[in-house]
Amino acid sequence: MTTITAPKIHVEKVQQSRVDTVDWDNLPFGKIFSDHMFVSDYKDGEWSNDRIVPFGHFTMHPASMVLHYGQAIFEGMKASKLADGTPALLSPGDHAKRINNSARRLLMAEFPEDRFVEAVSQLVSLDRDWIPPAEGSALYLRPYMFATDEFIGVRPSETYRFCIFTAPVGPYYAKPVRLVVEQEFVRAVPGGTGEAKAAGNYAAALLPAQLAQKKGFDQVVWMGGPNMTQVQEVGTMNIFFVIDGEIITPATDGAILKGITRKNFITILRDQGHTVTERTITIDEIVAAHDAGKLEEMFGSGTAAVVSHVSELQYKDKLMTLPAVEDRKIGPALKKYIDGVRTGTVEDKFGWIVKL
Ligand SMILES: Cc1ncc(COP(=O)(O)O)c(C=O)c1O
Repeated sequence: MTTITAPKIHVEKVQQSRVDTVDWDNLPFGKIFSDHMFVSDYKDGEWSNDRIVPFGHFTMHPASMVLHYGQAIFEGMKASKLADGTPALLSPGDHAKRINNSARRLLMAEFPEDRFVEAVSQLVSLDRDWIPPAEGSALYLRPYMFATDEFIGVRPSETYRFCIFTAPVGPYYAKPVRLVVEQEFVRAVPGGTGEAKAAGNYAAALLPAQLAQKKGFDQVVWMGGPNMTQVQEVGTMNIFFVIDGEIITPATDGAILKGITRKNFITILRDQGHTVTERTITIDEIVAAHDAGKLEEMFGSGTAAVVSHVSELQYKDKLMTLPAVEDRKIGPALKKYIDGVRTGTVEDKFGWIVKL
């Protein structure tokens, strides 16, 4: 039997760390980057030259295919510290799998899952001092891949770069959000790219989000199906409802990103004996539940905020108000559970944590 071992990652450390310059009490999201990044290049049918190098710029050819035809995908994940200071990752294997699902949809090269987890682990280990100390804060990890062929013409690139950098982020005190049900633009349709974390999906969502914000809302609820009646997601999160005790989340039908938080929430809830239904849910059902006083909770799920409670929902000319967050049971408990697993205060019953 032959065992194939992942190639060694070449490490070039910074001469002088910048970690002492960080103001830990004032961490703007996504603007501060830690000392190192991981890079690997795909050429002639294989990934090679896996390396961790000082964080810095790339140079790009003006004809780099990603700039023209958009083969670009990414992941978003977090590293935290357990109570004893050990760095930990949550569900890194799921992120490794998902970036390859995205790669397949955009006809890009898959990055081996074991090398993905090894790269993330070594990078976070090396930059462990960049994991912020405050409770609820984290080191945000951004794995991504893009096409690098220097060529003009629509075809899949034959070369790619895979990179991971990290950014310390402060506690995410998400205030409850006001949402509007989007009736003009769509994020995704079954058969499109909505199930991939493709960069272009996010570009297409900017205009509807900005129009909603101009009207005083925080984000849109993405709709699909006949007459735009089926709820898909909210902003860049999956969505959950609690209606008369039933926990419902839209079934993944090809248009919905298979969120890792969504999957973990379903696992926790079912383990606790709750019934979680993955099915089609229409806006008419939500309006009827609201009018009958049975719409108990509505929240988004995602890596960044974990839970984002919805306070108000506008559909056409009807504004629906949801119960106060203090009166909710499911969403707040899920947030507490995931935050607890990340810091080691809640048992990692499902083996999601990778300790570094
Ligand atoms: C469109 C979209 N939906 C849902 C999610 C939530 O996914 P996850 O829980 O894996 O962060 C994200 C974030 O990755 C997203 O971009």
